[in-house]
Amino acid sequence: MTAAVLLRHGGPDALEVRGDRPVPRPGPGQVLVRVTAAAMNNTDIWTREGAYGLPGRPEAEAGWRGPVDFPRVQGGDIAGEVSAVGAGVSGAWTGRRVLVDPAFYADESEDAAPVGLLGSEADGGFAGYVAVDAARLHDMSTSPLSDEELAALPVAYGTAMGMLERARITGDEKVLVTGASGGVGLALVQLAAARGARVVALTSGSKAEALREAGAAATLSREETDFRRRLDEAVPGGLDAVADVAGGPWLERLLPALRDGARWVIAGAVAGPVVPFDLRRLYLHNLSLIGSSMHTRAHFAQLADLARAGALRPRIAARYDLSDIHAAQEEFRRGAHIGKIVVTP
Ligand SMILES: NC(=O)c1ccc[n+]([C@@H]2O[C@H](COP(=O)([O-])OP(=O)(O)OC[C@H]3O[C@@H](n4cnc5c(N)ncnc54)[C@H](OP(=O)(O)O)[C@@H]3O)[C@@H](O)[C@H]2O)c1
Repeated sequence: MTAAVLLRHGGPDALEVRGDRPVPRPGPGQVLVRVTAAAMNNTDIWTREGAYGLPGRPEAEAGWRGPVDFPRVQGGDIAGEVSAVGAGVSGAWTGRRVLVDPAFYADESEDAAPVGLLGSEADGGFAGYVAVDAARLHDMSTSPLSDEELAALPVAYGTAMGMLERARITGDEKVLVTGASGGVGLALVQLAAARGARVVALTSGSKAEALREAGAAATLSREETDFRRRLDEAVPGGLDAVADVAGGPWLERLLPALRDGARWVIAGAVAGPVVPFDLRRLYLHNLSLIGSSMHTRAHFAQLADLARAGALRPRIAARYDLSDIHAAQEEFRRGAHIGKIVVTP
């Protein structure tokens, strides 16, 4: 089969498209999924580059959970069709359209923390086929979403769902979303607006209109000079929550715009991982700072229910053949897109 194989940490040449990769065999408890669509995420690029560092060694080359076992097929966002089942798995799965939960969990509970990801700790979906545990499957036979739309969900929408749930963001709240045109950010805008929240989207350039179409009640440009006044106009009385994937200077800048008792949930740091901020703003106003990594099984099941009901429609920014994965990564890196970039084998 054809697969994009990561041979080592490095630049684009560390990723090779090969036509001679053997089709994996499903082991006991596993199924073989014929991949029909796989979406791209920041983690594919950061893992290729080894950009996550290690505890105490921020410059070290590593994947998000530490050393990566090469060669590795990346891709945590997988939609496809079950083409074979391993020992102990019901044959009723064969032929079904499925969405794959990419997370490895710390234990068997519904609320277990994610501790690994397909495409990082095991082979993922940038290939014709992938063997996965049957426990990861969510049946999408009845979903009105296309395979590309389904593939857009797991990492970005799973992470967004995890953030909204961990910060307990509800329908009558005012929420600012950073990185709003990106994969996780757009998912946050859509999911929070679908709950009824008043969403303010922080974005750049000419992306505001697309974000209002996605459900944002107001948008703010990160190039805005009179930023605080614009924010106060958009949300008089202060923000109830910030759902943040940017970090960097935004924490210090936006913390004073939160009302007393508000929450700041963070899942990414595209604007910088190491930040100074005034701790007094945190404790004097009873603010909560919440770290959020991916999703739990319970969060993913909620997402799968929304997908089956057609209650959300991810925006597909671009499509590439798997053989053009380098071009797909280039476009992702440019950051001019809005929504998810999908590759199809
Ligand atoms: N914790 C987790 O489980 C988890 C899971 C997935 C992703 N992540 C992390 O979440 C972050 C976002 O991921 P993604 O896939 O959504 O990335 P993405 O698609 O590249 O989107 C990031 C967005 O951030 C905005 N941005 C870029 N530079 C910025 C800056 N200096 N200041 C403010 N905003 C900036 C841009 O949107 P605008 O132009 O609209 O501002 C961009 O579209 C990454 O750090 C990723 O590693 C974490």
